[in-house]
Amino acid sequence: MKIGVFDSGIGGLTVVKSMLEHELFEEIIYFGDTARVPYGIKDKNTIIRYAIEAVEFFKNFELDLIIVACNTVSAYALDEMRESSPCPVIGVVEAGIQAASNAVNDKDSNILILGTKATVNSKAYEKGLKSLGFNNLEAKATGLFVPLVEEEIYSGIVVESIFNHYFKDVESPDAIILGCTHFPLISESIQNYFGKETILIHSGDAIVEQLEKEFTFTKKYKNPNLKFFASENPDALKAVAKKWLNK
Ligand code: DGL
Repeated sequence: MKIGVFDSGIGGLTVVKSMLEHELFEEIIYFGDTARVPYGIKDKNTIIRYAIEAVEFFKNFELDLIIVACNTVSAYALDEMRESSPCPVIGVVEAGIQAASNAVNDKDSNILILGTKATVNSKAYEKGLKSLGFNNLEAKATGLFVPLVEEEIYSGIVVESIFNHYFKDVESPDAIILGCTHFPLISESIQNYFGKETILIHSGDAIVEQLEKEFTFTKKYKNPNLKFFASENPDALKAVAKKWLNK
């Protein structure tokens, strides 16, 4: 399969990393809209417009599948992307809901959803989790994590003080949904902050779980053909990809 992976910026590379670890695809075309990141503070119509433009970009490649490696876009624009795409489009929110439900046995468990302002306002995770019987939910917009990761600051005093700002009234939850693909880069710091009992749900692992359920993968691709595109400064994106993915 030849797939497209779309994110507002570099965060979706965490999803690519999970896919590479599982050696699922022969060819991956990554597009990060680095000129217009962050999406998480934009309104619904703008997010939908940008997402449809990404589909137009992917039409150059005759893809078999588009993976939306951005929670913000997955929360708002999947239907519109599907309408304008010649191939199937899947998003990380549904996958994250399913992964959380698989990982957390007790329906009364306290689940904290972290995401951008747009993702949290959409209530996409809450709606999905409530429909599966989970009711002890709290959602927090933690948008400052996005520039932190874009600046490659993953731990230390700045991260700690932002955690204290957002989490000072939050009790250690049973599970946290990292509802933004930038957040796995600071997952170690989040885990240290809340303790190792807290289960972290990662969009990349969640989408791999969903893909392996929905498709039959007969071959492993150790060295897939990877191409990285960005709407601004593609060299910067390629440098981060090289660092994070060793590619
Ligand atoms: N990586 C995006 C997500 O998963 C968020 C970053 C942004 O605000 O553009 O929601």
